[in-house]
Amino acid sequence: MNKNIRIIRPDDWHLHLRDGPILRAVLPETTQHFARALVMPNLLPPIINSQDAKSYRDAIIQAIPDGANFEPRMTFYLTEETDPDDLANAYNSGLIIAAKLYPAGVTTNSSWGVRNFEKVRTILDRMAEIGCPLCVHGEVTDPNVDIFDREAVFLDKILTPIITQTPGLRVVMEHITTKDAVDYVLAHNKYVAATITTHHLFINRNDILVGGIKPHYYCLPVAKREEHRVAICTAATGGDCRFFLGTDSAPHLDHHKETACGCAGCFTATNSMPLLAHIFEQENALSNLEGFSSRHGANFYGVPFNTGQLILEKKDTPVTFPKSLPTPQGEITVFDPGVKIYWQVKKMNET
Ligand code: DOR
Ligand code: ZN
Repeated sequence: MNKNIRIIRPDDWHLHLRDGPILRAVLPETTQHFARALVMPNLLPPIINSQDAKSYRDAIIQAIPDGANFEPRMTFYLTEETDPDDLANAYNSGLIIAAKLYPAGVTTNSSWGVRNFEKVRTILDRMAEIGCPLCVHGEVTDPNVDIFDREAVFLDKILTPIITQTPGLRVVMEHITTKDAVDYVLAHNKYVAATITTHHLFINRNDILVGGIKPHYYCLPVAKREEHRVAICTAATGGDCRFFLGTDSAPHLDHHKETACGCAGCFTATNSMPLLAHIFEQENALSNLEGFSSRHGANFYGVPFNTGQLILEKKDTPVTFPKSLPTPQGEITVFDPGVKIYWQVKKMNET
């Protein structure tokens, strides 16, 4: 028996679109389901000021497929040299809705990121004053810290000092992967929220490594033990408004992933919504899918809910998704959850 659910059109509060031909290839995958996305600024070179954010936003708008209704929301990439006035003007004028903090060296194109957190104190104070949220890639880069512990250590060593020194700063812990991060959010107030990706709800570290290395499951933060996957799954599906969807869909060409030193990122723009329906159904929480994908994030960022709707349908037999997305520079593998999925997007109404 087919089953339908109808939700407010979703938003993706953490998305990598890149630029040039890759942007043009991947953007339609997002616009076919999502009404808005918070676009990450880790380009080469990164989006560090108003001028960059304006031209990047224009390039994205140019690449929106004809007839699609989609709004990119922009971020600044914080550096130790970010000009607080430029940031405040960009935020107050609506050009950006957040700034992203990458500890230097933490992930793809993060070498412009922050090395000395003291150097961004005045910027963070200014952000708290104007209400601009700080999105954080919450992992330490200390080579002595095991990669599987980097998120948990970040909470104590970096995040707690930041929010203690700058009370009132609104923080989004991006793409959380640990029970520690879930508990951290729950222990704080509405100023601390977290995004959760689609892929981290499906995979644990065994999926990456057992039976042969799976480069398309490698992303950062790297997936952790099963107990952590269960914790983020419980958080995502539990209805708490501090947890919302940020897919972290991160396109990399296959030849950059299937190599001796592969890039981090899972490309989930194509099938995130059906995969989420699968997880929420499994957790007996389909009624919370709309909150997670369409309401909690909008509330956090203070924007209205989308007016369109998405109808997801459960089929009797498993559905299939494209294995990869062609681009002029090569293929980009679509995330394969490794289990049968029965959900698909039946219809998207834009208004
Ligand atoms: O897996 C990831 N890919 N994690 C990140 O933090 C960055 C992203 C990318 O830009 O490829
Ligand atoms: Zn990301």
